[in-house]
Amino acid sequence: MILIDGKKAAAELREELKKEVAELKNKHNKVPGLTVILIGELAPSKIYVKNKEKSAIEVGLKSEIIRYPETVEEKTVLEKIDELNNDDAVSGILVQLPLPKHIDKQKVIEAISPGKDVDGFHPMNVGNLSSGYDSSVPCTPLGCYLLIKKIEPNLSGKKAVVVGRSNLNGKPMTQLLLKENCTVTITHSKTDDLKGECLKGDIIVAAVGIPELVKGNWVKKDAIVIDVGINKTEKGIVGDVDFDEVSKVAKALTPVPGGVGPMTIACLLKNTIECFKRSQKN
Ligand code: GUN
Repeated sequence: MILIDGKKAAAELREELKKEVAELKNKHNKVPGLTVILIGELAPSKIYVKNKEKSAIEVGLKSEIIRYPETVEEKTVLEKIDELNNDDAVSGILVQLPLPKHIDKQKVIEAISPGKDVDGFHPMNVGNLSSGYDSSVPCTPLGCYLLIKKIEPNLSGKKAVVVGRSNLNGKPMTQLLLKENCTVTITHSKTDDLKGECLKGDIIVAAVGIPELVKGNWVKKDAIVIDVGINKTEKGIVGDVDFDEVSKVAKALTPVPGGVGPMTIACLLKNTIECFKRSQKN
């Protein structure tokens, strides 16, 4: 069984991006900039944002974090996004989720200029991705996609089963696999005979948020299994895949942690660089 090393893949991607940033700096005399807006004091959000900044600086990007208290007015955030949309030094804008209840998430997402939407959450990017056009692609499914391609460069005709239908993961993952000519089944927590559906997959991407849902006898021999889950349980953090069972059946499997997670941040840096390059073309 191949244990897919997301830490190593992310480090390799960051090395490539570092070289690319150096080349862009030579060519344009400036570097891509990522601005993250962090609202409130949620510990996981603060950790993610710190890690994003560290990685951004490592590859040579300009990085800025704008912090607001939990009580900040929606209007203040929208005005700041407008200012960043019009700032040439800012290539990418990310508003860390989740947001406090009094702030309308969709309004915030739609306020970000699609060309600076490094999360790929803006409806324009969602639409472009589903139409097969150039767009920002959400970082986690992009990371999963790159890991799958490392194991199996030619996905044409493969049966892929995506477990989970979120806007963040399941839906964009489906689009990426479709673009590669996979036959994709989207399943979710209400799917009838989820086990039977999973058993058809040459590739399974589990992003449903149910601890260790995908069992060994749900997986076809030699399938590639990508585990997006991060679930807190009594025995610690586990994924959506039963690692011990599935590792005996799968050809390749991502661990949790150390699989998809590290790739997500590396893909955010990649998206920031892509936004910069598109802005230079226009
Ligand atoms: N919070 C957890 N994951 C994400 C993400 O991918 N993007 C944003 N903006 N917030 C998050």
